[in-house]
Amino acid sequence: MKKLIVTFVAVMATVAGVALGADAKAGADVFNKSCKMCHGENGATPNPGVAKMFGVPIPVLGSAETQAKSDAEIKDAIVKGKGKMPAAKNVTGAAVDDVVAYFRTLKK
Ligand code: HEC
Repeated sequence: MKKLIVTFVAVMATVAGVALGADAKAGADVFNKSCKMCHGENGATPNPGVAKMFGVPIPVLGSAETQAKSDAEIKDAIVKGKGKMPAAKNVTGAAVDDVVAYFRTLKK
């Protein structure tokens, strides 16, 4: 029984360890589900219809200007919304870090 508990704790620690490190691959899935409809494939082709509806240009996410923002600013935009961008309410917890990690892979 004791051995079983030790094994269980070790497995949980491994799972938690993985969850703590941001995962750009998982972030890509989050992006495709929650961001792509406005920001386009790889954040590179903003949806013109959405931009027109909001009356603001949607930034290209790989651009030097957008990449110059800090992780904290990007997280804020996702969690709280930014300007005309609504908060991505379905993106929470580790998914926020994952999508930020993915966002960093878009840098040109
Ligand atoms: C409903 C459309 C929509 C969705 C969904 C959306 N965005 Fe945006 N995003 C926008 C618009 C519009 C802006 C420009 C906001 C402004 O300048 O007023 C923007 C701006 C941004 C910016 C620039 C923020 C800054 O500080 O200038 C980042 C980064 C960003 N979005 C990332 C994301 C990510 C990541 C997701 C998915 C979790 C996402 N967006 C989902 C429409 C959207």
